[in-house]
Amino acid sequence: MKKRNVIITGANSGIGKAATLKFATEGYNVIMACRDLEFSRTVQKEIVELSQNKNIDLIQVDMSSLNSIHTFCSEYKSKYDKVDILIHNAAYINHGEKYQLSPDNIELTFATNVFGPFLMTTLLLDHIKKSDDPRILHASSNIIKHFFDPKTKIIFDNLQGEFKGSRPHSVYKMYCQSKMAFVILTFKMAEMYKDNGIKVNALQINGAKMSKRTLKKVKPWWRPIAWGQNIFFPPTSYMANNYFEICTSNTFHHVSGKLINDKLEIMQVTPNEYPSLFEQVKRVLGSSVYPTYADNNEVMEQLWALSAELTKCHSAYTLTKNLDGF
Ligand SMILES: NC(=O)c1ccc[n+]([C@@H]2O[C@H](COP(=O)([O-])OP(=O)(O)OC[C@H]3O[C@@H](n4cnc5c(N)ncnc54)[C@H](OP(=O)(O)O)[C@@H]3O)[C@@H](O)[C@H]2O)c1
Repeated sequence: MKKRNVIITGANSGIGKAATLKFATEGYNVIMACRDLEFSRTVQKEIVELSQNKNIDLIQVDMSSLNSIHTFCSEYKSKYDKVDILIHNAAYINHGEKYQLSPDNIELTFATNVFGPFLMTTLLLDHIKKSDDPRILHASSNIIKHFFDPKTKIIFDNLQGEFKGSRPHSVYKMYCQSKMAFVILTFKMAEMYKDNGIKVNALQINGAKMSKRTLKKVKPWWRPIAWGQNIFFPPTSYMANNYFEICTSNTFHHVSGKLINDKLEIMQVTPNEYPSLFEQVKRVLGSSVYPTYADNNEVMEQLWALSAELTKCHSAYTLTKNLDGF
């Protein structure tokens, strides 16, 4: 097998760590893109030992910082000639936390979960194009089901601290909106990059056991809920296998611009925005359909333009205006 390069963000714990182990065991070159180098080195060592694969690299990145992502991409490009698989797994959520800004004055949840991945993909694009089967995967969440309520929207006017301190802030709602934004970007990127053969999909994760490291970060009053959830959630290896399947299998070779559920079924947009009560219960409990909001073109364009502006990726915005240039 030709060596394939896989970048996994947030590879030091939870699903990201399990995915690193899975790809490593299967013989891939894995590049762990992690924030905390000291801790991540111990994980890197553990993965090398468990998988007997020495090609496990570690490059520092803070996904909430534009500078850090630029540095990561430069280092990556100096070491590797292509990207075959890019998995945007890292995400920020910390219940009860107040509104926080990233080093670039962007709301922290959106900076980490949406704009950071947007920038990394854009900066690595030339390297991604060099792969003979490039695949990008975005980790989404079943939390986007809140958008089945037509009143739920992405609030765009407070992403740069405009109403910091004067509006009530909910990390949960921000996280929910960021995960919807990420699905919308998935659809847009798939469309933008299809002529280059780049496949971009999102996985809707219903839950996976949280690692001890993650549980420690959770606010004390939230911990009992998190422990409770952990009893019912599948192991992280289950979701890691899904990452692997979507990014490597023939089944998904031609699949792009799709939201995929944890049974590896392609989800469809809900056929009805105002369904019967029975239909509403069915779609909230199931994972076969996603909210129509994800297909809203106006929101998609607004989000793409904002992503290009905030990350100063003007080339990405020009591409929207002039697809010929791509
Ligand atoms: N677990 C679930 O039940 C569940 C449900 C739905 C969706 N998901 C999604 O699945 C993905 C993985 O979740 P998980 O539960 O496995 O997560 P996790 O164990 O909490 O791990 C999150 C990872 O993201 C990294 N990260 C956070 N902020 C970062 C930043 N600014 N820069 C670089 N790395 C950063 C963390 O690194 P540090 O160690 O440096 O903090 C950690 O490695 C996430 O996208 C999550 O939203 C999970």
